[in-house]
Amino acid sequence: MMKKICVIGAGTMGAGIAAQVANAGVPVLLLDIARDGEDRSAVARGALERLKKAEPAAFMSRAAAKLVEIGNIEDDLAKVADCDWVIEAIVEKIELKHALYEKLDAVRKPGTAVSSNTSTIPLARLIEGRSEAFARDFLITHFFNPPRYMRLLEVVTGPQSDRALVAKVSAFADRAMGKSIVGCKDTPGFIANRVGTYWLTAAVNAAFDLGVSVEDADAIGGRPMGVPKTGIFGLIDLIGLDLMPYLKASLTATLPQNDPYQAIAVDHPLILSMIADGYTGRKGKGGFYRINREAGKVKEAINLASGAYAKAAKPVSISGAAQKDLRALIAAPGKVGAYAWAVLGPTLAYAAGLIGEVADDVLAIDSAMKLGYNWKYGPFELIDRIGVAEFAARLAAEGKPVPAIIATAAGRPFYRVEGGVREYLGADGAYHPIARPEGVLLLEDIKAAAKPLLKTASAALWDIGDGVVALEFTGKMNALDGEVMKLIEQAIPLVSASYKALVVYNEGSNFSAGANLGLAIFAMNIAAWGEVEKLVTGGQKAYKALKYAPFPVVAAPFGMALGGGCEICLNADAVQAHAETYIGLVECGVGLIPGWGGCGEMLSRFLADPKLPKGPMPAVAKAFETISTATVAKSAANAKEIGFLRPSDGITMNRDRLLADAKARALTLAEGYVPPAPPTYRLPGAGGRAALDLAIAGFRARGLATPYDEVVSGKLAWVLTGGEADLPDTVTEADLLALEVGQFMTLVRDTRTMARIETMLNTGKPLRN
Ligand code: NAI
Repeated sequence: MMKKICVIGAGTMGAGIAAQVANAGVPVLLLDIARDGEDRSAVARGALERLKKAEPAAFMSRAAAKLVEIGNIEDDLAKVADCDWVIEAIVEKIELKHALYEKLDAVRKPGTAVSSNTSTIPLARLIEGRSEAFARDFLITHFFNPPRYMRLLEVVTGPQSDRALVAKVSAFADRAMGKSIVGCKDTPGFIANRVGTYWLTAAVNAAFDLGVSVEDADAIGGRPMGVPKTGIFGLIDLIGLDLMPYLKASLTATLPQNDPYQAIAVDHPLILSMIADGYTGRKGKGGFYRINREAGKVKEAINLASGAYAKAAKPVSISGAAQKDLRALIAAPGKVGAYAWAVLGPTLAYAAGLIGEVADDVLAIDSAMKLGYNWKYGPFELIDRIGVAEFAARLAAEGKPVPAIIATAAGRPFYRVEGGVREYLGADGAYHPIARPEGVLLLEDIKAAAKPLLKTASAALWDIGDGVVALEFTGKMNALDGEVMKLIEQAIPLVSASYKALVVYNEGSNFSAGANLGLAIFAMNIAAWGEVEKLVTGGQKAYKALKYAPFPVVAAPFGMALGGGCEICLNADAVQAHAETYIGLVECGVGLIPGWGGCGEMLSRFLADPKLPKGPMPAVAKAFETISTATVAKSAANAKEIGFLRPSDGITMNRDRLLADAKARALTLAEGYVPPAPPTYRLPGAGGRAALDLAIAGFRARGLATPYDEVVSGKLAWVLTGGEADLPDTVTEADLLALEVGQFMTLVRDTRTMARIETMLNTGKPLRN
């Protein structure tokens, strides 16, 4: 483990990397140049202040921000002697980096790792003139922006690099900082930016050449290819148009003349003039898209031929099959197919041609593009989707060279499952098993090798080994409905009889968006109140059956875990959450209250909180505030601060390690497991309710709550204070569940709740009625 880390250079990257070290719970010293005058560390101090306000947030918790110590390289460099790792993230100027390394070498302990975040300078050049000891302890660790959220870490080592030290740095970056490490060779742009720059350049050129509009290019080059919906031009707006000439200059200067990128690296006069005029993208006046505020916030797109902005047009529609099937996409008539191929053909061929040069295998290139550019599929997975033979044939028919690895594949796919094991095709022409690092367990691998133990329309149960099963949600957005509850019901006797523990886990984009509101609104529209009530009581029954089952249940949320997705976590024996978990009870936003035991579970958590004053009212008020404002945690650490997670719940930084960690947790709990006893509560009743009602009225008066917020909050207050109960009555868990159903059902019948749900389903935004 690392005791302390130093980051030098407190710009965009250095500051963000320092924050992620702090998020890992390790003290970090952030240094920048010294300023004359009173505050010599003003640069690093300014960076820390910006970090605290960054959006999206750089810190996962308030505690993390306190782990950053600031300083300047003139007064504080000697402190490097206490650090295990120094990360250099200063400007991309080799002479400045060299000068800094020389000073560093004088103050660091031997064995302290030094790494550079350089995006373009080869390792061999960085260590020129340095001591042998320095070269041994040196490597490149290339983080992506923003360092908290981008999972890729490219690691480049030299022939002299100390393997053990590289392993130590890698282990920390992986387990503590949550990064997925891709080893790269010491070549220009490493992997992701090398392929990514080629891809963006090819896609921009093709749009100019084929007369495809910005809107159409993004519609074709985005989602249908498994690329984020920003597509091509939207992504360039995001990263900054001015970065493109910079990347071009660096790559054309360092890549060999015969590299295919050299032939496509052209300047577009329109783009150069946009940059000169300050149209550098979202950080500037706008880019290929801009928001015209004079016209009343209209989204406009630039015309690539004329350079004039006009209201962004509805993009070309991509017909059924072509939306998902890459073969259909590249074969589509007209500009859809032509543009898709003009982007994919050269880009995938380029990536294929890099095997051996930038990395030894297809796995590294696929991982880099998925983790560094958020592609859903890597280049070789995309080629598989087209068909290796078809891809090769089309290149050959166009007289384009067929890359060696494609010829080696000879029509065989790059990935296959053989004997239950996922394999990739090596450059040697043989298949090799995809080896996962120790402590990485993926449901994707288990699913490729086996059939589910149980399956319904919205969930499945998998044997994940060692007596543990995983409950997977499988519906759209992992929404929860009666089919999930049905699976839970079937799972309980099976797990009780033959397994030790259950984890709730999946590998969708989010853990769960909550109850299936589409289904609910359908039932509400036809006044099928019985069906709606069955959904509520059925969910309560299933979640409580999990809670009191004779085996431990560990929930492993990640991404969004909202509403019913939060409640399944609240009902579990323990939670092992990915650090990037956004959990919350958001029901009030759609005119409802938590109906699957969330109210009682939140009360239990706050009643057990030693930081709150004794007596029921502080806990009730806290639960009320958290639920009525639809609070969503901004990280797992923040979920602990808020109270959705218990102090004993675990946090996993690396997404790929979540399942293994949850499984280990479940196995620990399984030893001598005794299910919890159902809680009873002493709740304040009418007296406490009066205080909450007063608070709501206050919010209303100040314009912070809408008329219907007041109604919904009133129902929530009824449940949380125990309904008719009056101190010192005790309220059982079953009483609270009945109160939840009762109040939920009155809200469901209110047309204002229906209006809120419909707006949420149609626009994704809450209606403030
Ligand atoms: P930046 O310009 O935002 O920040 C650079 C910082 O270094 C500034 O605060 C500057 O005052 C400081 N600095 C300059 N000389 C220094 C010295 N001798 N000692 C201490 N501090 C010094 O730059 P950015 O974008 O953060 O880039 C930093 C490094 O990360 C570069 O090597 C860049 O190639 C690389 N990189 C940048 C990415 C990006 O998206 N911006 C992505 C990945 C890598």
